[in-house]
Amino acid sequence: MDKNEGSQSKAGPESPKPLENKTIVLGITGSIAAYKGADLASRLTQEGAVVEVVMTKEAQEFITPVALGALTRRPVVSDMFHHAASHQITHVNLGQKADIVVVAPATANIIAKLAAGIGDDELTCTVLATQSPVLIAPAMHAAMYLNRVTQDNIGRLKERGVSFVGPVEGRLASGHFGPGRFAENTDIIGAIHQILGRKGNLAGKRIVVTAGGTQEPIDPVRYITNRSSGKMGFAIAAAARDRGAEVTLVTAPVSLAAPYGVKIVRVNTAAEMFEAVAAATASADGLIMAAAVADYHVASAAANKIKRERGTLTLELAPNPDILESVKGDFARVGFAAESENLIENARKKLEKKRLDLIVANDISATDSGFGSDNNRVTLLSAGGKVEDLPLLPKSVVADRILDRLVSVLREKGHSIH
Ligand code: C5P
Repeated sequence: MDKNEGSQSKAGPESPKPLENKTIVLGITGSIAAYKGADLASRLTQEGAVVEVVMTKEAQEFITPVALGALTRRPVVSDMFHHAASHQITHVNLGQKADIVVVAPATANIIAKLAAGIGDDELTCTVLATQSPVLIAPAMHAAMYLNRVTQDNIGRLKERGVSFVGPVEGRLASGHFGPGRFAENTDIIGAIHQILGRKGNLAGKRIVVTAGGTQEPIDPVRYITNRSSGKMGFAIAAAARDRGAEVTLVTAPVSLAAPYGVKIVRVNTAAEMFEAVAAATASADGLIMAAAVADYHVASAAANKIKRERGTLTLELAPNPDILESVKGDFARVGFAAESENLIENARKKLEKKRLDLIVANDISATDSGFGSDNNRVTLLSAGGKVEDLPLLPKSVVADRILDRLVSVLREKGHSIH
């Protein structure tokens, strides 16, 4: 049984715009990955950011300023002298108004110029003029990436506080495989969120989150599991990252991409999850158990595949230990409770029995769908007696509400919070 999934109404609540009020300067340079830079511009715009695109001359050989202007609904900077002529020092203005400057894709050439402090076009001048964080997503042939000069240039930029995302190993435009491939846009967006949230109210805090439904083997091929999608736990992990936390995500098998910038520990069984949680919480400030941990495991799983010729099969199930109740340590504890009756009363009992600081209660009987949904309807109960009934919300918003409460718990425990 899954404990942490909620419902989805037919229309569903509106998706949040996590980059609302942020200005992102996106530099696109002359790489075949420039078309992915266009997709990145579109996705950042959809997340609510004001995206100011600066294209080099070479980038315009691959994709046009018209396309970027249409995607961002903003004028695109594509010519230094055009703007100089109109008495605007664009690169200084852009550098100052940016919350972050992202160069994606970045060629070896642009990286070399930035490392050397050469500003000879609008993009390099913007990067050199900004006081804001800079994120670079390189894209180049493996041989160029592995070249000593490129490596030295990247090293110098890192020393100066520039962040990098990718490149990753994979298929390159040349048809070869190797390092140099442009990072996935999802990861670039994750890195942007992480950098923008560096000084958030969980900065410097170590948070452990669990997700997914554990798998308890019957034999080498079969297992017992539940319908947990892991979405709630993954949303919490990403939201904690975006408040500056150092996040470890202990997850049972799920079909979700690992959030960028989060340490991921993959487990199968409840016993493995217990071990991983115990190790990760040794130095943690908070544990959020969003996983649907199996209550039972097969007492003696078969070493070989069970044959149907055996006829009727009876499995003996033995209880699993309660991770949340038994894991040792002085950190804030957040649990989940899915109840089909007496929601508040049963959730409160669990809060007390497991000595939790906060419990997230789900009334599974009141919801029309559930597992795998992007939305959740929960009530938050804290040890102090506060009850907060939330409407149906996207899981990313529920995650933030849970973390708001976690921050209060940490404050009460004497943690200093920014
Ligand atoms: O008692 P119940 O299983 O409903 O409690 C749910 C909470 O306890 C969840 O946060 C779940 O992750 C956690 N749990 C656990 N270890 C178990 C079973 C549940 O940590 N064996």
